[in-house]
Amino acid sequence: MLRKQAQLSRLQKSIPYSYASTLSVLVSVILLLGFYFPLTGLHRPSEISARDRWNAYTLPEAVHAVARNNTIIVCAVSQPYLPFLINWITSLARHHRHHEVLVIAEDYATLYAVNEKWPGHAILIPPAPPLQQAHKFGSQGFFNFTSRRPRHLLQILELGYSVLYNDVDMIWKKDPFPYFKGNYDIYFTDDMTTVKPIDHSHKLPAPGKKGRTYICSCMLFIRPTPGGKLILKAWIEELKAQPWSPHAKANDQPAFNWALNKTSSEVKMYLLPQQAFPPGGLYFKNETWRTETRGKHVIIHNNYITGFDKKIKRFREFDLWYVDEEENDPTEALVKLRTMD
Ligand SMILES: *[C@@H]1O[C@H](CO)[C@@H](O)[C@H](O)[C@H]1NC(C)=O
Ligand SMILES: *[C@@H]1O[C@H](CO)[C@@H](O)[C@H](O)[C@H]1NC(C)=O
Ligand SMILES: *[C@@H]1O[C@H](CO)[C@@H](O)[C@H](O)[C@H]1NC(C)=O
Ligand SMILES: *[C@@H]1O[C@H](CO)[C@@H](O)[C@H](O)[C@H]1NC(C)=O
Repeated sequence: MLRKQAQLSRLQKSIPYSYASTLSVLVSVILLLGFYFPLTGLHRPSEISARDRWNAYTLPEAVHAVARNNTIIVCAVSQPYLPFLINWITSLARHHRHHEVLVIAEDYATLYAVNEKWPGHAILIPPAPPLQQAHKFGSQGFFNFTSRRPRHLLQILELGYSVLYNDVDMIWKKDPFPYFKGNYDIYFTDDMTTVKPIDHSHKLPAPGKKGRTYICSCMLFIRPTPGGKLILKAWIEELKAQPWSPHAKANDQPAFNWALNKTSSEVKMYLLPQQAFPPGGLYFKNETWRTETRGKHVIIHNNYITGFDKKIKRFREFDLWYVDEEENDPTEALVKLRTMD
């Protein structure tokens, strides 16, 4: 009898117990859903597939999509340089040339940031270089990274397109394309700050103190001709022959200048006018020169100064900083540019 009562009470108790456990399961499910949905909100399937799409986006695909009139404008950017990218593109948009820009992203953050706002205008060519080392000027990472540039440019030429390469610490005052006159293979600028006569020669200058020229690898227009491809191949060879060492903290520019030296009889080269394409060491530092050549400037390069903040400060001082200071996310500007002419 006692046993039966005990059994019965256990049975009675077990009913509310199982009811409670069902409830708790329901509550858990609701809680889980509550956690789950905000998370999936951040990583919506559409976003994940968009990222997959950009991870698989190839250079030929991007070049075909972005080029206009068989020409493409490229730059290479890592995440810390996004404000410079926006500044540079904003200056191009004033001359209606931003639509043909392809950003070679140096990291996935840049790839996604640009393509989210401006689909198809950024590409990452794997492998993405390791973050910090890649940006210290003179470091091995910096050298490794800049060494990739001629290979990417060559690949674009092989696809049959002309390419204009720009560093993003530049701005356009005018459209440079009308300055690429004649049928030369490559057009470049001199990084020497010595003032040249207005009617200076358009030939490769004489070598400087180090036995080589100081042509800037920062701004190049190259046509998909045999000569255009030859100079890039020679540059790649020079980079292989003179790898980075702690003593010669090289970037890719000396190798480029040796390549120019060695191919000068086979490649049709054109030195762009100094007053239109001045190095930063001339434009920003010589006020007399700047005043004398007013209205003639085409592309201004904010070089001959190191450091991110210093470059921005100098651009601001010279009224060449076009990034909206009120906007937290500088890449928002890309959304506006998409619909611009
Ligand atoms: C297209 O390219 C050709 C050849 O390079 C050039 O002559 C022409 O001016 C370009 N047209 C435009 C609209 O840029
Ligand atoms: C640079 O490239 C060399 C040769 O490919 C490699 O051994 C080295 O680890 C790379 N260094 C950096 C910092 O990327
Ligand atoms: C190439 O460099 C060598 C060594 O500095 C120099 O003597 C020669 O004149 C240069 N050639 C050209 C075409 O600049
Ligand atoms: C600055 O520019 C002026 C005018 O072109 C030139 O005469 C002078 O030599 C330049 N100064 C320096 C330091 O290069």
